[in-house]
Amino acid sequence: MSSAFSLAGKTALVTGAGSGIGQSISSRFAAAGAFVWVADVDATGGHATVAGIRQTGGAAEFLKLDVCNEADFAAAFARVPVVDVLVCNAGIGHVGTVLTTTPADLERIFSVNVHGVFRTMRTWMPGMVERGRGSVVMTASTAGLGGLVDRFAYATSKHAVVGMARSAALDVARTGVRVNCICPGRVETPFVRSRINEYPDPAAAYREMASTQAQGRMGQPEEIAAAALFLASDDASFVTGAALAVDGGWTAGMFPQK
Ligand SMILES: NC(=O)c1ccc[n+]([C@@H]2O[C@H](COP(=O)([O-])OP(=O)(O)OC[C@H]3O[C@@H](n4cnc5c(N)ncnc54)[C@H](O)[C@@H]3O)[C@@H](O)[C@H]2O)c1
Repeated sequence: MSSAFSLAGKTALVTGAGSGIGQSISSRFAAAGAFVWVADVDATGGHATVAGIRQTGGAAEFLKLDVCNEADFAAAFARVPVVDVLVCNAGIGHVGTVLTTTPADLERIFSVNVHGVFRTMRTWMPGMVERGRGSVVMTASTAGLGGLVDRFAYATSKHAVVGMARSAALDVARTGVRVNCICPGRVETPFVRSRINEYPDPAAAYREMASTQAQGRMGQPEEIAAAALFLASDDASFVTGAALAVDGGWTAGMFPQK
């Protein structure tokens, strides 16, 4: 028995794969033997992910996919009808309180973070159920496990992602298909770096964000990819409906620790 988690012979599709966590998941999956469809609305980032994977001997192809666009899903499904591992990772952030967030803001965030995940599941899960096997992994957030100040739309959307993972897992629990989500803490990606650079003192903002995690540091995309690989692999055969916190201990304590 091999000791490393393997995706040999499997086809994976990762949304939001042109940057950050999705890029890292794609590379890790390819290194574990999967053929990876690198799906993103951003072709430049997507092609960069594919090039990185091919450079290290992996197999991947770019797939243009805006998770807000039904027509893109039709075209993507025509090209890629069979998927064994589906990673619903595409997501966007938003800063604002319940008082400053507009209905349009909420709709935009939900369109990507919630409806985008749902559209992705609706496209490829029926085939998984028909074949009696498959693993769906979503990227939720610690903001899906508890409220966050000044992130009203984002945290609300990520609570919905956790709810979708749990509910979908139950709906298909006896079919051989598993559904789980990962709840990352703060991870150093372009998404987080752009937020940090908006602060008047980015270095102080970085230290502040790092210190929220019990381990006192931010996570790296590779650490989220490692958890995604486990959930995607057959080694997680009895894991479904889980919301796995990969957050340096952020959500382990109920109260601030200092
Ligand atoms: N970085 C963190 O600290 C952190 C923490 C918790 C959860 N997350 C979640 O992880 C996921 C990835 O975040 P990241 O930090 O890697 O961000 P990122 O901005 O680095 O990458 C996101 C990718 O998603 C793509 N994308 C955006 N909208 C899309 C759309 N409509 N259709 C298809 N692709 C789209 C972007 O082009 C980009 O390539 C998101 O769901 C995010 O909410 C991130």
